Amino acid sequence: MTAKLIDGKAIAKEIQEELTREVAELKEKHGVVPGLATVLVGDNPASQTYVRMKQKRSAEVGIHSVGYTLPGDATQEEVEALVRKLNADPTIHGILVQLPLPKHLNEEAVLNAISIEKDVDGFHPINIGRLAMKGRQALFAPCTPAGIIELIDRTGIAIEGKEAVVLGRSNIVGLPVSMLLLKRNATITICHSRTHDLPAVTRRADILVAAVGRPLMVKADWVKPGAVVIDVGINRVDDPSRKRGYRLVGDVDFEEVKEVAGWITPVPGGVGPMTIAMLLKNTVTAAKRAAGLL
Ligand code: GUN
Repeated sequence: MTAKLIDGKAIAKEIQEELTREVAELKEKHGVVPGLATVLVGDNPASQTYVRMKQKRSAEVGIHSVGYTLPGDATQEEVEALVRKLNADPTIHGILVQLPLPKHLNEEAVLNAISIEKDVDGFHPINIGRLAMKGRQALFAPCTPAGIIELIDRTGIAIEGKEAVVLGRSNIVGLPVSMLLLKRNATITICHSRTHDLPAVTRRADILVAAVGRPLMVKADWVKPGAVVIDVGINRVDDPSRKRGYRLVGDVDFEEVKEVAGWITPVPGGVGPMTIAMLLKNTVTAAKRAAGLL
């Protein structure tokens, strides 16, 4: 292996420890306890796991977390009424509506209903719009993209002036991470399903972010020697040798790419833990703003 590993699990733990100290100090000095409300609609097993992890990690750093679960056939009005109730609740500083929502619900309208001051996921169109515009600051950046930037920064890798290629244009990762990299003065190329000759484009990347949800898609000959490779994919592939019958792999063929890249994130243990760490960080920021401390 020639690439150095970017250990997301260790970096996320470091951030959690910093937040634990900060939350204790907030409580002691200012009587402020950050509060996070999670909203899960339906019973998607992956979403249930993510929400459970978010609540567990919140509790570990001292964030007061409240979970709301609505049935899969909840109406648009019921979901929006819950969001409005949480907007008005002074003990709640962050509201997280787990995505994807069931198909009959209008995701855009639900995200629009969240108060931008409590939008710790950074998905409100005003926050995304500010993220995209020069000279504007979003109140919160989406958690996975913010986690990617934090991983790069804490590894000591410079972003400015680099050629960054992002595979994928989703609202949750591809688009916002491109905006964050642009704000940090990288040169950005966003690739998607219609891009011609993907390997030729990805080979230009000094920083390659893979967020397409296709297991092991990025091969060694897609990567420039020495590049920083950030793998956002979490894909289940069948593996009868495992007790649970599957294993998790990224969008990057780690075994091949680690021989070419300069830096690489593993799956699991790379970007995944950072998403929750940044959610906790955003929640603490929201609580500090609400208390007039920022
Ligand atoms: N679904 C996949 N990623 C996320 C995320 O970061 N936040 C929410 N709310 N839903 C998601």
